[in-house]
Amino acid sequence: MSDMILRTENLGVSFGALKAVNDVSLEIERGKFTTILGPNGAGKTTYFNLISGLLKPTTGKIFFKDADITSYKAIDRIAAGMGRSFQLTNVFPMLTVHENIRLAAQSYSKVGVRLFRSHRRYDAVNNKTDEILERVLLPHRRDALAASLTHGEQRKLELGMVLALEPEVLLLDEPTAGMAIEQVPVMIDIMRDTHQRGTTVLLIEHKMDLVKQLSDRLVILVNGKVLADGNPAEVSQNPEVLKAYLGGGVLDATTA
Ligand SMILES: Nc1ncnc2c1ncn2[C@@H]1O[C@H](COP(=O)(O)OP(=O)(O)OP(=O)(O)O)[C@@H](O)[C@H]1O
Ligand SMILES: [Mg+2]
Repeated sequence: MSDMILRTENLGVSFGALKAVNDVSLEIERGKFTTILGPNGAGKTTYFNLISGLLKPTTGKIFFKDADITSYKAIDRIAAGMGRSFQLTNVFPMLTVHENIRLAAQSYSKVGVRLFRSHRRYDAVNNKTDEILERVLLPHRRDALAASLTHGEQRKLELGMVLALEPEVLLLDEPTAGMAIEQVPVMIDIMRDTHQRGTTVLLIEHKMDLVKQLSDRLVILVNGKVLADGNPAEVSQNPEVLKAYLGGGVLDATTA
C-alpha cells in the first residue's frame, strides 16, 4: 500500500457565490514531488490556505498523517510537520540572513530563550543555521541585512526559514515568482535538493515547462476543480489540458 501523508476529501471553500476551491479530493504520497498548476484565480493559493489552516473550509476534510486536522489551528499544523512558504516574501528585514534563519531554527528546537544557557544547544542551532544557509546557497550573504537582499535572495532566505522547521511536507507557493530569470534554475536546484533529502514537496507553479522535469506528478486546477492529474508526460499531453491552456499561458515558460 502506498503511504499517503496528506489527503483532502471533497475540500471546498466559497467566497459569496464564488466556489474558489470546489470539491477537491487529492492524496499526496509521502516522498513525492507534486506540482499544482493552473491559471490566475484557479484557486491554487486558496487550496494551500485551506491545507495550512489560514482559511476554514466550507466543505470537506483534511487529513495529515492519518489524523483529521480539518479543525487544527495553523500553528498546530506546523508543529505536526507542515511547512509553508508564501507567495509574498516574509522575512524580518532588519535582521541579518543568519539571524532570520537562526530564529526559525531556534523556534523549532523548542527551547527558546533557555537555549542561551546551554552552549551545546547554542552551537547546535548555529550549526543547523549554517547548514541551512548552505542548502539555500546564501552563505556569502550570512551577515547581510535581509532588507538589503535582492528579491531572489529573499525568496531563498524565506525558504531557508521554512526548511529550518524541518517539515515533513513542504508547501511552496510560486517560489520563483518575481525572480530574475537567471535565478530561477537556482531555486529549482534547491527544491530538487530538498526533495532528494526526503521531504514531500507540494509546489504551486504557473509554468509547466519549469516543473515537468522536477515533478513526479502534475495536478491541473481550473476554476477550483481538478481538471487533470497524473504523471507529467501524460498531463502535459492531455487534450483537455491543451484545450484549456493553449494560448492561456500555463504551458508557456515565459509567461509569469
Ligand atoms: N479572501 C478572499 N475573499 C474573496 N475572494 C477570494 C479570497 N481569496 C481568494 N479569492 C478569490 O478566489 C479565487 C482563487 O484565488 P487564488 O488566489 O486561490 O488563485 P490562484 O490560483 O492562487 O491564482 P494566482 O495564480 O494568481 O496566484 C480568485 O477569484 C480570488 O479572487
Ligand atoms: Mg496564488
